[in-house]
Amino acid sequence: MHIRIATSLDRDDVREVHLCAFPKGEREIVSKLAVNLLFEETTPQTISLVVETGVAVVGHVAFSPVAIDNNENWQGYILAPLGVKPDYQNCRIGSKLIDRGMQQLLKLGVNILFVYGDSKYYSRFDFRADVADQYTPPYKLQYPFGWQAIALNDTNIAKSSIKIACVNSLCDPELW
Ligand SMILES: CC(C)(COP(=O)(O)OP(=O)(O)OC[C@H]1O[C@@H](n2cnc3c(N)ncnc32)[C@H](O)[C@@H]1OP(=O)(O)O)[C@@H](O)C(=O)NCCC(=O)NCCS
Repeated sequence: MHIRIATSLDRDDVREVHLCAFPKGEREIVSKLAVNLLFEETTPQTISLVVETGVAVVGHVAFSPVAIDNNENWQGYILAPLGVKPDYQNCRIGSKLIDRGMQQLLKLGVNILFVYGDSKYYSRFDFRADVADQYTPPYKLQYPFGWQAIALNDTNIAKSSIKIACVNSLCDPELW
C-alpha cells in the first residue's frame, strides 16, 4: 500500500473511489467535490492524497484551507472528503490517510483542522466538537453534531464564535 499526492491524472480514480464508498444520495455530490478540489488552485495549497494498492487507487482524502477575517497569522484546514472503496475498508487505510495529511499540515504550521462528517469515526483521531464550536462554518449545518476540529500547532482557541471561509469547491450549501 502506497500513499502519494494525487494529480490531475487521478481524476477518474478519485471520482470512482467516492462513487463506490458513499451511499446513493451522497455519492454524486461527494465525488464531484473530490474532483473539483483536485483541480482548484488555492493559497495555501489544497492537499489531495490517494492510496494505491498495486495499480489501483482505493482511497482518497482532501484537505483544503479555510480562513478567518483579520488574522493572517492563523491557518486552518478542513478535511473533506474521505473515502475508501468498500472492499478495502477496515484495513486502516482511512486512518493512514488522515495521519499522513495531519503530518503534512503540522509541518506547514497549520493551527487547526476541521472536519464535517461522521463524528463517531473522526473522534477516534481526537477531533472534538468543543474545539470546532468556537468557529462558525460557512453554511448552516444539516448535522451539527458532525462539526469537529483538532488543534494542531499552538493556537488560542477562539473565545467567541468566528466565521470561517472555505474554498470555492466547498461553497455549496448542499455540502453542509
Ligand atoms: C469511513 C471510512 C473512510 C473509514 O475508512 P477505513 O479505511 O475503513 O477505516 P479504518 O480501517 O482506518 O478504521 C476502521 C475502524 O473505524 C470504524 N469505522 C469505520 N467507519 C465508521 C463510522 N462511520 N463510524 C464509526 N466508526 C467507523 C470501523 O468500525 C473500524 O473500527 P475498529 O478499528 O474498532 O475495528 C470508510 O469506511 C468509508 O469510505 N466510508 C464511506 C464514506 C464515509 O463515510 N466517509 C467518511 C465520513 S464523512
